[in-house]
Amino acid sequence: MRVFEKIEDLRQYLAGLKESGKTIGFIPTMGALHDGHLQLVRTSISQNDITTVSIFVNPIQFNNPEDLAGYPRNLSADLEKLESAGCDIVFTPSAEEMYPEPVTNEMDFGQLDKVMEGFFRPGHFRGVGIVVKKLLDITGPHRAYFGEKDYQQLAIIRHMVKSLSMPVEIVPCAIVREADGLALSSRNKRLTPEQRAAAPGIYRALLKAKENYNWFTPDGTESLAITEIEQNPELKAEYATVCDATTLQPFEDWMDAEHAVLCVAVYAGQVRLIDNILLY
Ligand code: PAF
Repeated sequence: MRVFEKIEDLRQYLAGLKESGKTIGFIPTMGALHDGHLQLVRTSISQNDITTVSIFVNPIQFNNPEDLAGYPRNLSADLEKLESAGCDIVFTPSAEEMYPEPVTNEMDFGQLDKVMEGFFRPGHFRGVGIVVKKLLDITGPHRAYFGEKDYQQLAIIRHMVKSLSMPVEIVPCAIVREADGLALSSRNKRLTPEQRAAAPGIYRALLKAKENYNWFTPDGTESLAITEIEQNPELKAEYATVCDATTLQPFEDWMDAEHAVLCVAVYAGQVRLIDNILLY
């Protein structure tokens, strides 16, 4: 496994591989890797000749400095996991390498970032868009892999790639869950034992909403999910939003959306967890 810290070195190495006809799969990450990330790596390995992973805790996508400071980092453990998974290339740039100049770019995602994460974390998707665009430009992969846990992020990246005609296939990968239903997340490491015990309640609430949504309006389904989540005093819902699975816009009548997804953000103490479920 080759590890690169400099953009130019990685670009040159990948250019050589592409010239020799190799296909490149790419997975952008912020490290603190768990089995959800490794599932993306395994999928990429099965579909490409070369798999490249980036590890970069992107400062410009954190709207909360405490969240950035507390974000788990463990490069040596991450590299070991990637090596054993069979990853070929890892890119670990510094912030100076990625942002040699103050970042002034703007990003326009239409209405996609006006709701949910985009509403509660102002500037978050601008930061995600800028870094993912940069990483895709640097690595020039044939395919890039994103988990469906970050449902809105996936929709925004797809929109960006399509609207900028970027020559990469975005491959969505299903959420990986613990046996008790908790979606894998780097943030799970920060849960206390009590919060960890409560956290599977999030997925149970999503399942209950999916089983019962046709008895409720979209609004009623959101309330049901919040009530279920907050049955446990360790959990506080920031939002539960039923939205159109493609446009991410809320709607009033089930007939208004061909497919609907329920997305939630939940605080367990200071730890903010997100999850979602396709209702239909
Ligand atoms: O999903 C993440 O971990 C990040 O948002 C990403 C895509 C690596 C960009 O920093």
